[in-house]
Amino acid sequence: MSDQQTATTSASATGEPGREQWTSRFGFIMAAVGSAVGLGNMWRFAYIASEHGGAAAVLLYVVLTFAVGVPVLIAELVLGRASGRSPIGAMRKELGRGWAPFGFLFILAGALILSYYAVIAGWVLRYALVAITSPFPADAGTYFTDMAAGGPAILFQIVIMAVTVLVVARGVGSGIERLSSFMMPALFLILVGLAIWAATLPGGDEGYAYYLVPRFSELFSLETLAASTSQAFFSLSLGMGAMLTFASYLPRDANLPRDSATIAIADFGVAFVAGLVVFPVVYALGLQSAVSGSTVGALFISLPGAFAAMGGVGRVVGMFFFVALLFGAITSTVSLLEVVVSSMMDERKLRRPVAALIAGGFITLIGLWSALDTNALGFLDAIANSVMLPLGGLVIALGVAWKMPNAIAEAGTGASPRIVKLLTGWLWVLRIAVPPLLIVVLYETIPAAIEAGRVLFGGS
Ligand code: PHE
Repeated sequence: MSDQQTATTSASATGEPGREQWTSRFGFIMAAVGSAVGLGNMWRFAYIASEHGGAAAVLLYVVLTFAVGVPVLIAELVLGRASGRSPIGAMRKELGRGWAPFGFLFILAGALILSYYAVIAGWVLRYALVAITSPFPADAGTYFTDMAAGGPAILFQIVIMAVTVLVVARGVGSGIERLSSFMMPALFLILVGLAIWAATLPGGDEGYAYYLVPRFSELFSLETLAASTSQAFFSLSLGMGAMLTFASYLPRDANLPRDSATIAIADFGVAFVAGLVVFPVVYALGLQSAVSGSTVGALFISLPGAFAAMGGVGRVVGMFFFVALLFGAITSTVSLLEVVVSSMMDERKLRRPVAALIAGGFITLIGLWSALDTNALGFLDAIANSVMLPLGGLVIALGVAWKMPNAIAEAGTGASPRIVKLLTGWLWVLRIAVPPLLIVVLYETIPAAIEAGRVLFGGS
């Protein structure tokens, strides 16, 4: 492997002069998939599937990912590559000055999500270490309640943030790209291995049935639609400029529509395979009741409980599971911080390591709130994930589809003629299909977020 610093400041004729660049298409795809694949795939996907109709919810999710997620993803990549800038500059340059404030909204969303995401990633790190050093705790419920908030949670949150800052400080090619090019293939191999192992478990059938048999009656509610749409946005890292920022390091000849499809397929694939691990394991051990208790139930209580009940095998399998999850989480925290850091570099001309340190320190401080109080974590998640991401998606869809003069030409640059023919359809999806859907979603999620805030601050 070449240790050579190939990515920095190549004044390539293709990208923005002087801007960092990915070293290869593979590297960009791995970094983008790394951003997309994370806690959302394993933490929330299984939960949403189990709560909203099993395979019926999975189907709805696939439709939303490809009919809504991919068009918005292409739009983000277009904004990033066309401008060669992070969100604020991209909006200003491609859509006009009046749009620049939305860039701040993106940065705020990234900072808020990272603040609590790092806390959850800290729990994952803790479980991965537990598996290496000792058996899984038999009473996973109590164990989790004890570690989820307070001193230990803060310690692990800080470790996650420190690693994130280090990677981002190293830069696009030798930091983010290198990390993801190792961690994403490793994660995928581990998950496939675990899914094959899970298929051998006696008593897992019921779990597969719960996951893979559609229960359509649970599907038709506004709540399901809203939950699946915000999950699709969260999982694809859309609506807050992560993909936009990553695309600002792409050359002009990158094939944006094709890369978007690849990223979405990989992201859905990982979520689906993770379900093939989670459901049979939990059902084989009769621990399903904990799954529906809360979003964290499946991942941090039932699964460790199941691993504990399996003895030595459970320890090995559990370690692999949490290490894979950790890889997914770290490549996501890195992309969240990169949005903030890249913006500080573009807008304030700060040097990368300085920006990484300042932003990382500040976000760690905000994260203390979530590390001390899991209700705060839930509240921030309700605001950032369920409200800010759909809102950001709305801004991007409207901006690219109605305001950007050369959107189709930009999206088509680097794409094959077959794809270029489809781009008019893409623009119309962004124009007339995406905005109403997102408005309906916001109509559902804004009151929910207000309610979460009322519960938190009302002290009840
Ligand atoms: N997509 C990540 C996940 O599923 C979370 C994320 C959201 C990352 C937004 C970056 C931006 O875990």
